[in-house]
Parts: sequence; structure tokens; C-alpha cells
Amino acid sequence: MVVHSKPPAMEQLSKPNHRAAFIPLIDLSKPDTKAQLVRACEDFGFFKVINHGVPADLIRDLESEALRFFSLPLSVKAQAGPPDPFGYGDKKIGHNGDVGWLEYLLLTTNSSSDYHKFSAIFGRAADKFRCLVNKYIAAVRKMACEILEMVAEGLRIQPRDAFSKLLMDEQSDSVFRVNHYPPIPGFLESDGRNLIGFGEHTDPQIISVLRSNNISGLQISLKDGRWISVPPDHNSFFINVGDSLQVMTNGRFKSVKHRVVANGSKSRLSMIYFGGPPLSEKIAPLASLMQGEEDSLYKEFTWFEYKKSAYKSKLADNRLGLFEKIVAS
Ligand code: OGA
Ligand code: NI
Repeated sequence: MVVHSKPPAMEQLSKPNHRAAFIPLIDLSKPDTKAQLVRACEDFGFFKVINHGVPADLIRDLESEALRFFSLPLSVKAQAGPPDPFGYGDKKIGHNGDVGWLEYLLLTTNSSSDYHKFSAIFGRAADKFRCLVNKYIAAVRKMACEILEMVAEGLRIQPRDAFSKLLMDEQSDSVFRVNHYPPIPGFLESDGRNLIGFGEHTDPQIISVLRSNNISGLQISLKDGRWISVPPDHNSFFINVGDSLQVMTNGRFKSVKHRVVANGSKSRLSMIYFGGPPLSEKIAPLASLMQGEEDSLYKEFTWFEYKKSAYKSKLADNRLGLFEKIVAS
């Protein structure tokens, strides 16, 4: 008799005119989710996490501080810009012409960095904001590391901190981003308009941890190219596999293509921690996932080189394409 292992718990997405689609749901309080995690990373590059251990009051406090910032007049917020690389940004994403219906804060995860751009505006509240950001980042980084360690175990990779140590490294080049998608003036649901909040892209780092308020907008692309809406859930986190993890697993995991469609009538707030390696780190498939070096699907590059190249590209470009080996046919 064949014993089938229980399929991972899935959340059903109802999307009119589409075959029902599912996204994997991982309960971090359950002892053995390694195999489920690996499958979710292979099949979707994306999953939802519950029982994550990040304190609800920390999330709530940071969200309300962020909303307080975004409620300031544009002329005041602009004093905390431009996001070069850290600070306030409005509509423009990157330097290559991408725009979206959003404003955002890009922050370093290095707790010793200064927040001088914010103290001018926030006054003493800048310290409170910074303190909350640092606590939040520490909590989501811990969760990301637990996930990466379980993934390593699921892939039978030694040592189990092969991925997570890159996030824990003092030199880790990680980023924290708060996106605010304001309502669109004159928006009518009946228009059927679909304005882009954040254009389609993959995240270049190792892993991204996203949390949003209860307003929809996030969509992911499935392997067959269909886009599905991710129902928002302010009590949970959503995890994206990034380009670097795709390379480190030699393509076994796929970085998930995603985008945000502007909701129009209600404002969406999302906070994303992008866990990245140190700049000097070589991004290459782990030896245990290949037969030999020549099996690598990718040319060798450092995170610094990849980032430099990604900054020159448009959001929707296939950034990893430049680093794929040309396979002779
Ligand atoms: C991003 C991103 C999604 C969101 O910032 O890379 O994909 O919901 N954001 O803001
Ligand atoms: Ni993204």
C-alpha cells in the first residue's frame, strides 16, 4: 500500500473567472514543517506564515508610527528624501523610470545608522520610530532565520545556518521598506481601472518578509504565468523567495514574481524586511546541491555585483538573466 504524505495546508483564493488557486500556509508552531517549506519554495517561491511569534503590539505600534509619518504634508515628508539609498520616496521607484501609485520609506537595517533625515521632521519621535523599527527588524529577522534553517534541513544542507548566517552577519546588506499606497482621488470601483501600485518584479535578496494591513493589492505570478491575488491578512506574514536564494539552490527554488495593484478607495500599508547577504558575499549554488561546479546554472558573482546590475535595470527586467550560463544546445 502506498502511504501518501499529507499535503500542506492551503488557503483557497477565490478569483472570479479563474480556476481556484492556492497558496501554501505554514504554521511555524508545528514541529515538522521542513518538507512543506521546501515544497512551497519550489512550487511557488511564496507562502503565508502563521504563529510566527512576532508580537502583535510591536507590529501595531510600528504601523501607527508609519501612518503618522505618511499623514504629514508632502512638503514635510519630502525633507526625509530622496531615498538615496535611504529615506522617503514618492511614486518613483529606482532610477530607471519605474513609477507606482505609492510613497515609501527605505531604511537601513543597521541599527547604528543615523536617522538624521527623520529627526528634522519627527523631532524626538524619530527616536521612538527608530527604536520600533530596530525591534521589529530583529523579530522578523529571527523568524526569517528560523525559516531558512528549516529549509536548509529540509534540503539536507550542512551546516543548517548556511543561509541564515548571511542575514545574521554584521555586514548583512538587508533593507527595511514601508510602502504606503494612498487612495486614488476620484477613484470609482465601477471604472474597472487597474492602476499599478508597485510594478511586477522579483526581490533580489535572499528572502523577503512582508506584512500588510488588511487591504488587498498584492498579486503573485504562478509558474504557468497566471496572476493571483493574495488575500491580505494583517495577522500573518508572507514570505518571498528572492533571486539570491534561487541561485544558491541552483534554481531549485524560484524567486516569485509579484506586484501590487492599487486598491483606489482604501490605503494599503505594507512593511517588508529584505534579508540580504554581505556585499562581498559570493552568490553561488551550494556545493551539496550540485554534482560538481560545472553544474551551476549561474556565472559567479558577488552580491555587490548583482545589486549594481539590478540598480541599472527596470523593475520588470529579468535581472538574473544576465548571470545565467548560456547552455549550449
Ligand atoms: C516590494 C514589494 C509589496 C507590497 O516592496 O518589493 O513587493 O505589498 N512590495 O508593498
Ligand atoms: Ni517585492
